[in-house]
Amino acid sequence: MDRFLKTVLFSSILVSVFVSSCAQNCSVSNNIFTSCNTLPVLNSYLYWNYHQANHTADIAYRQTGVTSSQWVAWALNVGGSGMVGAQCLVAFTNSSGLVRAYTTPVNGYGPSMAAGALSFNVPRISAELNNGEMVIFATLQLPTGSTSFNQVWQVGPVSGDTPQEHAQASANKESTGTVDFASGSTTSSSGGGGVGSRQRKKNVHGVLNVVSWGILVPIGAMTARYLKVFKSADPAWFYVHVACQCSAYIVGVAGWATGLKLGSESPIVYDTHRNIGITLFCLGTLQVFALLLRPKKDHKFRFYWNLYHWSVGYAVIILSIVNIFEGFDILDPEKKWKRAYIGVLIFLGATAVLLEAFTWFVVIKRKKSDTEKYPDVATRNGVNGHGGASAVNAYGGTRPRQEI
Ligand SMILES: *[C@@H]1O[C@H](CO)[C@@H](O)[C@H](O)[C@H]1NC(C)=O
Ligand SMILES: *[C@@H]1O[C@H](CO)[C@@H](O)[C@H](O)[C@H]1NC(C)=O
Ligand SMILES: *[C@@H]1O[C@H](CO)[C@@H](O)[C@H](O)[C@H]1NC(C)=O
Repeated sequence: MDRFLKTVLFSSILVSVFVSSCAQNCSVSNNIFTSCNTLPVLNSYLYWNYHQANHTADIAYRQTGVTSSQWVAWALNVGGSGMVGAQCLVAFTNSSGLVRAYTTPVNGYGPSMAAGALSFNVPRISAELNNGEMVIFATLQLPTGSTSFNQVWQVGPVSGDTPQEHAQASANKESTGTVDFASGSTTSSSGGGGVGSRQRKKNVHGVLNVVSWGILVPIGAMTARYLKVFKSADPAWFYVHVACQCSAYIVGVAGWATGLKLGSESPIVYDTHRNIGITLFCLGTLQVFALLLRPKKDHKFRFYWNLYHWSVGYAVIILSIVNIFEGFDILDPEKKWKRAYIGVLIFLGATAVLLEAFTWFVVIKRKKSDTEKYPDVATRNGVNGHGGASAVNAYGGTRPRQEI
């Protein structure tokens, strides 16, 4: 059993390392960004860090399969959508063999593509072309009042240091969509876009934690409390309980690790959510380690160990639920997810109430019949009665129990 627990601890550490390293790697040319997205057409990718304090975005636009006789452009269209009104960042290899990057506003069809200032400030722009990969780096002083914009990107031929008209293939026409620098999501006109990397990480974090701390842990506690009452479930309840809580712990630690990563990248600090999360991780780890240290069933300290195990366990359940609702407020998912979780809680709560009543019914009934059959045993067990669970244990006093 103890070897099994050590394996659990070890594997949960591995899982958390795995999850945090698998969290999407938004790195391009040795620059690491907090968000990135694969754009649906033209082999393009957008990376960015959004700074809420000064409403700026450091971005990198990457396009693969680009030759030295092609230009690439990425633009925000602040007032409209598509090409007309696009505030472009352009890059191409010029006749000096150097990659030139500059800004140009597109005011109509057949634009000159000559350098010019955009409707918002671009304090920094540069580009590089390596192995057919063009990357434009820029800092954008985003227009005030929004973090979500229409975006458009393009590629075309260059002739004599001047970008020429792009092809009219379907990909060249579908290369528009929206980008939300704060939430990390993008959408595309061709319908391919979707949830951004940051949003995806948040969703993974939410699902892992709701499933582990919010659902598996309470179920694990219920198996311990309510399965015990069935004679045939002893000691199976113990293994079900351990399996449930250990899998909850493994998934929970993975969820916790994604949370730490999200927190370290977040421009906003969510103190309460973070601190409750760290407390939960400590208490959860304590519970798993405590299993290794639990005194034998008839040891005089076992009673105190039980008290400790139950109180920490219930604290974990309460804190988990509180923190999940904190998380719902931060993540602000569609209402249906919060409602679904409330539904799960009501179901678990109602089940617990029914099983609690049933447990007491069984225990009292057994006590009665025990008093009739073995008056002295029942009296002895009556002394250490503290709550339903030990009343259930009291039944075990009438026959040998397997040591677990
Ligand atoms: C991202 O991936 C690249 C190579 O795929 C690697 O060199 C880099 O260290 C990774 N960065 C992070 C933050 O994991
Ligand atoms: C915006 O703020 C971030 C940090 O909050 C800073 O790193 C960056 O240089 C600032 N950008 C500009 C253009 O002031
Ligand atoms: C090519 O681009 C570089 C870098 O922007 C610039 O210094 C150089 O003058 C450009 N050459 C021509 C011929 O435009």
